Amino acid sequence: MSRIRPADDATLTEAGRLLRDGVLVAFPTETVYGLGGDATSETAVAGIFEAKGRPRFNPLIVHVPDADAAARLVEMDTRARVVAEAFWPGPLTLVLPRRADSGLSLLVSAGLDSVAVRVPAHPVAQGLLRAAGRPVAAPSANRSGAISPTRAAHVAESLGERVALIVDGGPCSVGLESTVLDLTTPAATILRPGAITAADLEPLIGPVAESGGEGQDADPAAPKSPGQLLSHYAPDRPVRLNATAAHPGEALIGFGGTEGAEADLSPSGDLKEAAAALFATLRALDRAPFTGIAVAPIPDEGLGRAINDRLKRAAAPRS
Ligand code: TXA
Ligand code: MG
Repeated sequence: MSRIRPADDATLTEAGRLLRDGVLVAFPTETVYGLGGDATSETAVAGIFEAKGRPRFNPLIVHVPDADAAARLVEMDTRARVVAEAFWPGPLTLVLPRRADSGLSLLVSAGLDSVAVRVPAHPVAQGLLRAAGRPVAAPSANRSGAISPTRAAHVAESLGERVALIVDGGPCSVGLESTVLDLTTPAATILRPGAITAADLEPLIGPVAESGGEGQDADPAAPKSPGQLLSHYAPDRPVRLNATAAHPGEALIGFGGTEGAEADLSPSGDLKEAAAALFATLRALDRAPFTGIAVAPIPDEGLGRAINDRLKRAAAPRS
């Protein structure tokens, strides 16, 4: 059984310690319960994907206690400052350019140059973030495909022993995930609708477009317009999958001790370790003298499905 504990000072202190140790902790926000992990640790973030059973590495929201903490992770332009001033803390997530010195995991933003940040209003989330003393990545605290939890008991039902501690802060007041607003382009775009609407934002920053968005794991069958898909990280060099050896010029990425590999995602064949190493390894080998990247077969089970999904996108023909 997962441990559900009331959100008192002792629990928050322990939650902070667990997070700093790379352990996952579920906690309430005003929207839904989040499954939190240290956003600066590739291994903790890989653990979030493992616990959720997500078949994909969608980028996760990074939670911080205030706008100053956000500004240490992302570039905040005037629009970002204006909406942050108006709606933080609260159910608004901003997608902004990632700072080179953010210290964030690459997996948390799925290799992209942008990061989604949010300052939750719930006092328990605030207490937990201050106790952790570092940014916390947190998708909704449910198995992939299940409904987002708005009570501690829902988290226990969905995730069971996959989460070390569930901080109980009672039912969530909003009950719907935060609005995701993309400010990486001149045209502000809502990627995921939520409690804060375009009509709320437009008086402050002008026209706001609305897109169908992607990554709402409760509705994998929702139709998606290709023009609205979230962009994906891909290396500049061509990627070849299920390779047993490198062709001339290629760097070979191995798994489980592949012979002749330039780098091995996990010499012992551990999928969580491989997930944690994936983006850093692709980036490190996307350089001269290599003309391509070959990747050894990865078992298509557990986290391996998300790794293979990402690799297939990286290997897809580009326009
Ligand atoms: O209310 C919420 O936002 C909850 C609570 C726990 O805070 N969290 C949540 O997190 O829903 P998550 O990770 O499940 O939602 C991530 C959403 C997805 O729609 C994802 O595609 C988008 O944010 N997103 C994250 N990073 C992004 C990025 N760099 N670019 C575009 N979209 C991004
Ligand atoms: Mg969710």
